Amino acid sequence: MPLPKRIVLVGPMGAGKSTIGRHLARELGYRFLDTDRMIEERCGADIPWIFDVEGEEGFRQRESAMIRELADTGASVLATGGGAVMKQENLPWLKHDAIVVYLKASLEQQIERTRKDRNRPLLQNEDPEGVLRRLFELRDPIYTELADVVMQTDRKSPRLVVRQIINRLNPRTPRQRRKVNKEDRNHA
Ligand code: S3P
Repeated sequence: MPLPKRIVLVGPMGAGKSTIGRHLARELGYRFLDTDRMIEERCGADIPWIFDVEGEEGFRQRESAMIRELADTGASVLATGGGAVMKQENLPWLKHDAIVVYLKASLEQQIERTRKDRNRPLLQNEDPEGVLRRLFELRDPIYTELADVVMQTDRKSPRLVVRQIINRLNPRTPRQRRKVNKEDRNHA
């Protein structure tokens, strides 16, 4: 099976989409694209500022436009923001010409990885854990439904996740498969 042209990473805040996406792109020789970073570049402002000035809906409109703009980028890995699946109109653009990989993380892992974060406006309140839990309940079924591949990221290094994604997309020799499966077991 040849490798897919476009790989789109979806999943919650703290799942490692940007880090894993960058590694995955490097490994495949693909371009790495990140909707959040590109929105910031386009806007000349960071995400907290966009939420402050334009509200969440203003950010979501920019996000939808960016997802649509990046739907035809060929050999690339696209990291999306956690809320990219919340607008129905985005779903066909995320799927377009792509394999969608859901980077799944437990609530504990999400909490741990976002604990000191100041750049995610949805978590700057008294109950970020409650927010993460509610968002997970709402979004997990949508990520799962949309994804071609679901990849658990808990307690795994980005390097291992990348290797497992590549193996799922394009399993090579039986020996390589056994090696990855063994690593899978060791990190289960
Ligand atoms: C959001 C996730 C963020 C960013 C924005 C909103 C969300 O991206 O797009 O703060 O709604 O879950 P990451 O998932 O990369 O943190």
